[in-house]
Amino acid sequence: MYRDRIKMKSLWGKVVGAEEAALHIQDGMCVGMSGFTRAGDAKVVPLALAERASTEKIKITLLTGASLGSDVDKTLAAAGVLARRIPFQADPTLSKAINRGEVMFVDQHLSETVEMLRSNQLPQVDVAVIEAVAITEEGGIVPTTSIGNSATFAILAKKIIIELNLSQSMDLLGLHDVYIPTRRPFREPIPVTAPHDRAGLSYIPIDPSRIAAIVITEKNDSTANIQPADDDTNAIAQHLVQFFRQEVQKGHMGTSLFPLQAGIGSIANAVLHGFIDSPFHDLTMYSEVLQDSTFELFDAGKLVFASGSSITLSGQRAKTVFGNINVYKDRLVLRPQEISNHPEVIRRLGVIAINTALEADLYGNVNSTHVCGTDMMNGIGGSGDFARNAYLGIFVTKSVAKNGAISSIVPMVTHVDHNEHDVDILVTEQGLADLRGLAPRERARLVIDNCVHPDYRPILNDYFDRSCAHGGHTPHLLEEAFALHQSYRQHGTMKGPKG
Ligand code: COA
Repeated sequence: MYRDRIKMKSLWGKVVGAEEAALHIQDGMCVGMSGFTRAGDAKVVPLALAERASTEKIKITLLTGASLGSDVDKTLAAAGVLARRIPFQADPTLSKAINRGEVMFVDQHLSETVEMLRSNQLPQVDVAVIEAVAITEEGGIVPTTSIGNSATFAILAKKIIIELNLSQSMDLLGLHDVYIPTRRPFREPIPVTAPHDRAGLSYIPIDPSRIAAIVITEKNDSTANIQPADDDTNAIAQHLVQFFRQEVQKGHMGTSLFPLQAGIGSIANAVLHGFIDSPFHDLTMYSEVLQDSTFELFDAGKLVFASGSSITLSGQRAKTVFGNINVYKDRLVLRPQEISNHPEVIRRLGVIAINTALEADLYGNVNSTHVCGTDMMNGIGGSGDFARNAYLGIFVTKSVAKNGAISSIVPMVTHVDHNEHDVDILVTEQGLADLRGLAPRERARLVIDNCVHPDYRPILNDYFDRSCAHGGHTPHLLEEAFALHQSYRQHGTMKGPKG
């Protein structure tokens, strides 16, 4: 049956088992694997590699598009295979290994990894392991539910292993648009001037003589593990809807807004879901991961087109979408992540970028990655690609975490992913702070009044008032800037010893 999917007959003899294919990966190599937010990842070769590591020393540098499913990061981390991991992950076992200092994690803007590979600023890819739905007559690779960095990994790698996944529908053919930017410094503009524009091929063009092995699999993508909308995320969505209503009334945009991007995770997904009950219509998305909310907006007749780099869905939604992908296909395109997240295109389209903060400070600096400034949660992902170049850089967060023990708004963030210059709008369930055109002292007043949880408002007002008395363009009391974090570490709550 798999032969129907390998249109280049001379490749039929390359079909081997996962263990044999994994032998192409040796200790010290740099390996590029497909996979973006649990979608379209290589699923069996990495697990065979982990198995081999029980009897043999293998340490590799692993590059992917973004996070992996199928417990691949977990299993590789537990087997001690990962020396270095680039550019994103979202696995608790791997995070722990990173935070113990055992795995060197390079947390990168997702649009940048392949630019750095292409210009030899990162080690050369020895082996690319790419999940495919089919191989074309010319030996081109048709990716599955994500493109991520797969195209450039396959184009640059010395050897390519293809995981041909028979559980992925052949109806995915035609979904992809593989455009590779030309060499710098004479690069042409990227020919994408609307979310629906197609600029490249529907497969990854490679030299088929570098295909070292083809492995047949039938493993499904892991499903998304996001939480449903709740009162807080509904409130955040309603604040945003109200804000956009006003922007439309002021004539800043029409009722179809500008193309939307929504970040990973439960909060961003739930916020986008909230647009179902809004007066806006004919919406478009120019995003990286398309989650359940994208298809809920399609089904509600609100969304007309979505461009992304991967489709990551919950179990039930995956069945209905991938079982009927032809219903959606002409309204969807998947691109390499360097195009979905490209500053040039994001700036040109005027994308409205909605991403999630772990914590934000009084002045609008955002930490999306490091708990208490030290422990890596997931990574910056594409949030920086979008926030800096967007028409509107919006960050959302619940005002408190861990049942109120943590205020998400703090005097000074303990790690800066998105600085005050990139953050236009901050939203919690308490309200929305429009920070555009405001100086730091004005920003702080608005953030405290509109976004901080009432339990923490007196603490932050007191800090800000005393900081202002001390002076400065961006007032701070350095000896107290992290007092809330210290209290959390010492007493288990930012509210101090009396809780
Ligand atoms: N300090 C410590 N922990 C915090 C916290 C804070 N200030 N704020 C939230 N958390 C914890 C939550 O309690 C939760 O912990 P749990 O898993 O033990 O319950 C966890 O962080 C996730 O928070 P949640 O409220 O469920 O939000 P989420 O699922 O929407 O994820 C991020 C939020 C920030 C972790 C996630 O969006 C992320 O990794 N962002 C960075 C990458 C990115 O933005 N990519 C976008 C382009 S794709």
